[in-house]
Amino acid sequence: MIEANGNQLIVRSPGRINLIGEHVDYNDGFVLPAAIDKSITMTLRKNGSKSRCTIKSKGFDSVLVADLYSLKPGTEGWHNYALGVLHEIQVLNPGLKGFDCEMESNVPVGSGVSSSAALECGLAFGLNELFELGFDKLELIKIGQNAEHNFVGTKCGIMDQFASVMGKENHAILLDCQSLDFEYIPIKLEPYRLLMLNTNVSHNLSTGEYNIRREQCEEGLELLVKKYGIESSFRDVSMKKLDESKKELGPIIYDRCSYVVEEIKRVQEAVVALKNDNLGLFGRFMFETHRGLSKKYEVSCPELDFLVELAKTEPQILGARMMGGGFGGCTLNIIHKKSIDHFVNKVSVAYKDKFGIDPSYFVTVPSDGTYLIKE
Ligand code: GLA
Repeated sequence: MIEANGNQLIVRSPGRINLIGEHVDYNDGFVLPAAIDKSITMTLRKNGSKSRCTIKSKGFDSVLVADLYSLKPGTEGWHNYALGVLHEIQVLNPGLKGFDCEMESNVPVGSGVSSSAALECGLAFGLNELFELGFDKLELIKIGQNAEHNFVGTKCGIMDQFASVMGKENHAILLDCQSLDFEYIPIKLEPYRLLMLNTNVSHNLSTGEYNIRREQCEEGLELLVKKYGIESSFRDVSMKKLDESKKELGPIIYDRCSYVVEEIKRVQEAVVALKNDNLGLFGRFMFETHRGLSKKYEVSCPELDFLVELAKTEPQILGARMMGGGFGGCTLNIIHKKSIDHFVNKVSVAYKDKFGIDPSYFVTVPSDGTYLIKE
């Protein structure tokens, strides 16, 4: 650890979970994410140069060296998230200068808990503080999202970066992705816990298939807007309109759009259940979301489906579903604390038997968003 001095600071930025509202952030829907207790810790300091930046990630041999005057996407996975953030800041503010950064993470990569947003938001937040750039939190969130659009190539929504920056201990964030209004919802689970089961597969379809889903939804929406003269938003699409247009939409676009319309409604109902402390009902909505993601939106995979099916056989699990972009990563399970060991043992044997892979798991809690630990 580098010694703290006036030109140096330490930032912690978390990954996120999402209780419900999947693949609707880029469709004007509602989402219910929370920052988690797994995070990236970054130590940043000015290095006196005009444009030379270095970022070292513990666990990776290579150091990312970048020149602010010639930023372009790199080849190594995580580099583009960082380079993208530098690029977005550069476009908006000339105050960014050379710096050195060291980071260490315990956010599992490729698991659907958005280690990418943790990195983007931590870096944007840290540089904002270090160089006193004056961005507010929403601007930092958008810097992270645009980094992903422009340097990584995933046309993601705003949920991950929003959760990473705005997270609050023991709360989820009900975010209206159309207006960006949000409300903190207390998460009172006792005696239940949030158990993440990691398939430990990442099918690498993610970026391409993610963007395809987004385009399919846009295509469906455009057709409905032309036909009904409605606003260009899934908030103005009803199941009735969709059903009337099934033929013109075709089976695939119809399925994608009907999942979106159902999920937008489901999140609102699920939040009422949560506010009424009806965790059983909330869990049933989670299972329904999984079914929609698997059958209609087609972003699940056999490994995720298997884990959710297994969860359904466990009476002490109230709800389970795949989480995040999909095609691998984790399922989120609401499980009684006394059943965790038993269920994890059962899953480990059955999953290994079926896929030849050891799953992994962790229990998590809603936590605070990106913050400065030390100046
Ligand atoms: C990824 C994206 C998010 C969101 C989820 C699916 O995590 O980055 O914007 O679309 O997938 O809900």
